[in-house]
Amino acid sequence: MRHSVVKTPAESENSTAMASSDFVVVILAAGKGTRLRSSRAKVLHRAGGRTLVEHVARTSRSLGARAVFAIVGHQADEVTTAVAPLGVRGVLQQPQRGTGHAMLVARRAIGSRAKYALVVPGDAPLVRAETLRGLMRAHQAGSAAATLLSAHLADPTGYGRIVRKHDAPGAPVQAIVEESALSGELRGITEINSSIYCFTLAKLWPCLAQLRPDNLHRELYLTDAIALLNQQGETVLAQVAADPQEVLGCNTRAELAEVDRVFRERKRAALMEAGVTFQLPESVLIDPEVEVGSDTVLEPGVQLLGKTRVGRGCTIRVGSVISDSLLADNVVVEPYCVVAASRLAPGVVLGPFARLRPGADLRAGAHVGNFVEVKKSVLEEGVKAMHLSYLGDARVGRESNIGAGTITCNYDGFRKLPTTIGKRVFVGSDATLVAPIKVDDGAYIAAGSTITDKVPRGALAIARGRQANKPGWVAKRRKEIAAAEAARARSKPRRKAAASRKPRKPSRPRR
Ligand code: UD1
Ligand code: MG
Repeated sequence: MRHSVVKTPAESENSTAMASSDFVVVILAAGKGTRLRSSRAKVLHRAGGRTLVEHVARTSRSLGARAVFAIVGHQADEVTTAVAPLGVRGVLQQPQRGTGHAMLVARRAIGSRAKYALVVPGDAPLVRAETLRGLMRAHQAGSAAATLLSAHLADPTGYGRIVRKHDAPGAPVQAIVEESALSGELRGITEINSSIYCFTLAKLWPCLAQLRPDNLHRELYLTDAIALLNQQGETVLAQVAADPQEVLGCNTRAELAEVDRVFRERKRAALMEAGVTFQLPESVLIDPEVEVGSDTVLEPGVQLLGKTRVGRGCTIRVGSVISDSLLADNVVVEPYCVVAASRLAPGVVLGPFARLRPGADLRAGAHVGNFVEVKKSVLEEGVKAMHLSYLGDARVGRESNIGAGTITCNYDGFRKLPTTIGKRVFVGSDATLVAPIKVDDGAYIAAGSTITDKVPRGALAIARGRQANKPGWVAKRRKEIAAAEAARARSKPRRKAAASRKPRKPSRPRR
């Protein structure tokens, strides 16, 4: 006797119910996206910190299908490259003759390997994996030929509308009518087609062969397969999305902006849930892979991008933009800093108005102040560089002080060269350190020096012109200038008299 496995409700929630060998996912991503008025293919546009197709590919891949295909056409190479690292295979549709034609192309790639196909459009990136799993469960439970995901939208403009067979809840679907073909009472329908479907392939393939391009765009519409299935007595079901935002497409720039907004809102909500404080949350932009620790405060206009990780108890103040960087706990980033590919250890204080370029490595307790730029440099524990400096390709030892206006001259016109500063070094204001150069522990550099030679341990280096005071110089100079002015004044009357002999321009007669 065979034992049947009884699943707990939680287990069945998380599974698709379909064995992974049974189904494939097809991402429709070949279209141009005419309504975006762009030279770039629609699915390569970005929302929520990723390209649209990358979102869809990640979600699709997480379902455990035996294969995920992306139907590519416009900028096929770029789209294939975007999804390949996620384990999605590009299948070329050339030319693009509609969503139904895209599935005919998919058929060749799928072969007879799978029983079901989950179809998702590459321009609807907000859909959640759990919603797709629910759709597949509904498809199997209803023994349908097709089950589609629908939604009720307050403004259904632009979407295909679902025509059900009758009014009862859960009634089977009769047809999908595209916006361009809407007439009469169908205009009042607010239930829209998301373009997300689960098909039983043995039922779909014969219908695809019957599609005709008898529509405004002369394309083969996948939506027409729904009416055909229905006519052949097959069951077509529609599952209404609980969260209508999930099905939003990105056909226009306005829709793209709305989808981006929803992604950003989701990310902020997840971080708030994890204990992060936001001020004016809607002004804060955070990419999907960013992590932020609890009790960190994000002020208005902050952007955390790429693979940035921020620790606990940090404060990122207004207008700072941080990408691909690692901030440990209790870091303070003052207003308007720009940080890229850098590391900030616990207790670092940065800014306001500081710039960290790739490879800046600020160790515990380092302070980098206003208008300081750091590139590919290590500032060890407790280093202070508070004002108007450039530190590039440098290593600064612990507790050294970099005076205002210090410049490491790291580029000789040919190569980038290193500067090495030891521990507890004092670099006076406006020093220029011409690399390659080494300043040993405990050395002092006098303000305004141009340092070209190694400074030994504990030495004072001065490299500037000597000051000369000239007593009484100012009064003497004043006298010289006064005398010159008087001589010029004496020569003036003669020139004036000559000028008065010239005929004057007649004035305009008065009326
Ligand atoms: C489609 C549906 C519509 C639905 C809407 C949901 C059709 C005819 N209409 O309309 O019912 O409400 O999605 O967003 O299907 N694509 C290809 N090859 C092609 C044409 C398109 O791969 O030849 C891809 C596109 O890149 C896109 C997806 O299919 O990712 C949908 O195409 P799109 O032009 O956006 O269709 P909609 O007009 O939005
Ligand atoms: Mg679309």
